[in-house]
Amino acid sequence: MARVEVVTRDGESRTLESTGACPLMEVLRDGSTGVEGTCGGMCSCGTCHVYVAPEWAGKLPERSEDEAMMLEALGDFVEVRPTSRLACQIELDDGLSGIAVEVAPEA
Ligand code: FES
Repeated sequence: MARVEVVTRDGESRTLESTGACPLMEVLRDGSTGVEGTCGGMCSCGTCHVYVAPEWAGKLPERSEDEAMMLEALGDFVEVRPTSRLACQIELDDGLSGIAVEVAPEA
């Protein structure tokens, strides 16, 4: 079980928990945080854009080329930060328990 500290799109601080290893997007989507996950995790909608807390960002795998391209495209509509990630590309497991993220504004 992994814990996620999230600031929702509405600015509310919440703690969510996953029941097993799964994409971070699914926990955020199911927790009604503002993440929609419209493409189902195919890295093509950008509705799972989050800002990862700096102390956690370095613990994540590098962005894939597809993720980087999607984030670059999002940059035309919303702020994209060095710690921006697509939550569907982050596999949540025990090693990431406690990760802190903020849901980015809607693009
Ligand atoms: S769910 Fe569509 S890009 Fe992440």
